[in-house]
Amino acid sequence: MCAKNSTPKQNLLPAPEPERKPEPKKEIGTPSENEPELVKLIEHIFSLNNPNSIQLCTEGIGGTYFIHNSQNQKIAVFKPSDEEPGAEFNPKGQISEPLLPPGGGAQREVAAYLLDHQHFAGVPETYFLSSPIKHPNFKTPKMGSLQKYVENIENHDMSSSRFTVEDVHKIGIFDVRLMNMDRNEENFLIQVKKDEKSPRLIPIDHSYILPPDLSFVWFEWLHWKQAKEPFLKNHLDYIAALDIHKDAAILHNLGFKKEEIKTMMICTIFLKISALKFGYNLFQIGSIVSRKKLTEESELEKMVRRAESLVQVEEAEAEEEKFLEVLSKIIIEELQNKIQK
Ligand SMILES: Nc1ncnc2c1ncn2[C@@H]1O[C@H](COP(=O)(O)OP(=O)(O)O)[C@@H](O)[C@H]1O
Ligand SMILES: [Mg+2]
Repeated sequence: MCAKNSTPKQNLLPAPEPERKPEPKKEIGTPSENEPELVKLIEHIFSLNNPNSIQLCTEGIGGTYFIHNSQNQKIAVFKPSDEEPGAEFNPKGQISEPLLPPGGGAQREVAAYLLDHQHFAGVPETYFLSSPIKHPNFKTPKMGSLQKYVENIENHDMSSSRFTVEDVHKIGIFDVRLMNMDRNEENFLIQVKKDEKSPRLIPIDHSYILPPDLSFVWFEWLHWKQAKEPFLKNHLDYIAALDIHKDAAILHNLGFKKEEIKTMMICTIFLKISALKFGYNLFQIGSIVSRKKLTEESELEKMVRRAESLVQVEEAEAEEEKFLEVLSKIIIEELQNKIQK
């Protein structure tokens, strides 16, 4: 595999972020007066104790509920923490080995929304429902993630060739940054709008991003033809503006562990080097992040292991910077070797 697109060399260090619109209120665990409108609305709906206001979604493997308003329209999706795959109250049958231990899904759903800067990939608004909430259909009060319901067509048989390069690339960039283990065909919503020629893709279900160790990922888009198209200039600008330290601070505030934050840093650095310095396309990038066989390390995992053998990360913050620096050099070296092959 060699670099095909010769994009100009760009600075790989975090660049200043482009100007952003003020973010909507979406901090977690905030006092009730600062609660986002969606959370307030759902709390109100739950307080009415109407058994018809929630409905268990038949798709997926976790407890996912559609929440209806008084006109019986779906307005939100609630995923209680104690109903995740592998959790005690999972209504769809226990599965022996969930991709990650249960209990962290809500945190990951909220992180996906907060890290989707400028709504680039289009993750729907997502918040914590952080005070236990009661409903006649629930045996116990529940906490979890709450996401805005997005209208979609239920057609997973639609040919992937109909999706725009732009949508596929935006979701691909998002998945690589956060090492999404679970971008399967059900975890895209498809929107068809009257006045738009192509259907739109909306990314959902981010319960399995940011594993503590690099392991296997599932990128449904990897073999779609759009993945082999070169990145658009504005997407390269977006990648260049990603700031791993700002993203790390967001994850830290959400309570993510050091190893999980490190996963984001590694994947973002790899994305920056491969896309910006070597002009790799999404297919080339995704192929290095993915395992060819389930039990064999990916090329990225091997690079990380090499860097780890050179730097002992146990000590302080400075060691982490050192590790990232060594890893960057290894990535550059390995990608250069590929070109020479
Ligand atoms: N924001 C949303 N808007 C509309 N439908 C959604 C939304 N989030 C999830 N769904 C629907 O609920 C299903 C299950 O949700 P998902 O987050 O994928 O949970 P699971 O972990 O059980 O797979 C999805 O396949 C989709 O049909
Ligand atoms: Mg799902």
